Amino acid sequence: MACLQGKTAIITGSSSGIGQGIAKRFGREGASVVIDYVSHPEGAEATKKEIEAAGGKVVTVQADITTRENREKLIAEAWKAFGFVDILVNNAGTEKRSDFWEMKEEDYDRVMDVNLKSAVFLTQAFVQRLRDAKRQGRIINISSVHEDTAFPGFIAYCCSKGGLRMFMRNLAVELGPLGITVNNIAPGAIATPINKGLLENKEELDALLANVPLHRMGTPEDVAGMAVFLASEDAGYVTGSTFVVDGGLMRSYHEQ
Ligand code: BGC
Repeated sequence: MACLQGKTAIITGSSSGIGQGIAKRFGREGASVVIDYVSHPEGAEATKKEIEAAGGKVVTVQADITTRENREKLIAEAWKAFGFVDILVNNAGTEKRSDFWEMKEEDYDRVMDVNLKSAVFLTQAFVQRLRDAKRQGRIINISSVHEDTAFPGFIAYCCSKGGLRMFMRNLAVELGPLGITVNNIAPGAIATPINKGLLENKEELDALLANVPLHRMGTPEDVAGMAVFLASEDAGYVTGSTFVVDGGLMRSYHEQ
């Protein structure tokens, strides 16, 4: 059964990777979808076509949500297209590897801006609309196992994801009285463009897979299934939690 029938969702960064997987799946579940993208119009267009071919309603909006202007544009276009939005998926994310002692301030700022600050203020704009309309809603942040687990060489990424974790917990308490739920999905190693380098390096990939009990990379579809659950009626009493989708990575420890 299409369990998101009649719902509308904004998914940030949904022209590729996990966001694209969620957009396609939400479309199949009957949701109207707002695809937000920055630099992959072809990915946004392909996702749109696929959802439309399956009978779904979809619009694409080019909006770099690190600026207030673009966040307002995304919210305005979503409301213009569908009249209301019930679900916000804060998915847009980036990462950059460097040893701590070499980390550049501008790289730190960029990662924190994309992964945390833009999610916080886009959510604020979304919540203001819901509050004004006295409507309930769902907020789903795509964080990472690294909201909790250390990742050497990725200080800013871990700070941003750890920040998303406390953002979610605090917001769940603050928005509960409005009937708005807030949860995180913490993906592990998912095969997407964000870890292209790793996927192309057999040695690094093998070392990673040795730590994954299910012994494979995850797929955007693995994450999308959890997002559908959190957006669905079945998750009506679920708020303030992180749901790990990592093939067992976070629990894995080996001495040899
Ligand atoms: C990161 C990947 C990493 C994975 C598992 C993800 O959040 O984006 O680069 O491979 O976590 O460590």
